[in-house]
Amino acid sequence: MERILVIGAAGQIGSELVTALRTLHGNENVFATDLREVPKDIKEAGPFAILDVMDDKRLIHYVIRHKITQIYHLAAVLSGNAEKLPLQAWHINMQSLLNILDLAKEVEDVKKIFWPSSIAVFGPTTPQKNTPQLTITEPSTVYGISKLAGERWCEYFYKRYNVDVRSIRYPGLISYKTEAGGGTTDYAVEIFYEAVKSGKYNCFLSENTALPMMFMEDAVNATIKLMESPKEKILVHSGYNVGGISFTPKQLAEEIKTHIPNFKISYQPDFRQAIADSWPQSIDDTQAQTDWGLETKHDIKAMTNKMLQGVKQKFNQ
Ligand code: NAD
Ligand code: SER
Repeated sequence: MERILVIGAAGQIGSELVTALRTLHGNENVFATDLREVPKDIKEAGPFAILDVMDDKRLIHYVIRHKITQIYHLAAVLSGNAEKLPLQAWHINMQSLLNILDLAKEVEDVKKIFWPSSIAVFGPTTPQKNTPQLTITEPSTVYGISKLAGERWCEYFYKRYNVDVRSIRYPGLISYKTEAGGGTTDYAVEIFYEAVKSGKYNCFLSENTALPMMFMEDAVNATIKLMESPKEKILVHSGYNVGGISFTPKQLAEEIKTHIPNFKISYQPDFRQAIADSWPQSIDDTQAQTDWGLETKHDIKAMTNKMLQGVKQKFNQ
């Protein structure tokens, strides 16, 4: 029986991944932790604790006390926020990962780690269309530098200490359960809230900025599939490319207009435009499909349908 620790359980991914993991492994076997309170459904359904991943001593005690066998480490400072305090972001993103990798090396019960990387490992010199798994990685953001260094550390711990750490380079993730956490792709979440609340949205990226994105349900399924795959199927020990769907703010606005005909979008690019311009427009994820059977179900239409339904329900409309 697995006993799973999720760090960063209150966040955009954690708040949905915990529920999916509890369905699979039993509520009592999935330990949700974060620096802040998690949504009510997560707190009430199973174990929850306030835990700082930077506090390595408390972390190791928690892991031993609860006989944890797998860790999903989701705590990080995302791209937009990281540019505001680069050294703090570097410290949090790197030290938290090193705490987890070192713990996995020392604690015998801990058999598997998940740590998310990002399309941010790529930079302005990377081929932007259909970006391959193995290519130039010269990120220009502190977030991207921390993810690239993190990938190198993951591979190092795998090769040197046989730590089974698995990773996905997530594209921008789109969901409605909790707010997005300060990233450059957040426009594709905010736009739905504003479309439902006010019928208009002022986008911080320009209209033709194409980025790879993925609906959360697909991201959660991919994550669990990667983690449930036999060890011998995992051939990439840095981070797997995962592509999802690619679209621009203008294309997303057009899709929203098919549901809300009067929806209006305006554009006022800010500092996040330069970040977006340095990232791929679309991703080649053939290796993830071949190695462990990556599948995605939502195109822009299906994603927009579910997002509008979900956001409307939140506002009781
Ligand atoms: P988020 O900001 O929504 O959630 C992160 C959570 O970590 C927050 O609830 C925060 O309170 C918690 N946290 C921060 N510092 C902590 C600490 N010291 N100890 C414990 N918890 C702490 O982020 P997310 O969108 O859920 O992203 C999760 C991971 O996935 C991150 O590593 C992120 O870089 C990666 N990722 C996310 C996306 C995306 O589009 N959301 C894309 C690529 C990669
Ligand atoms: N969605 C994330 C961000 O924009 C990508 O890792 O920061």
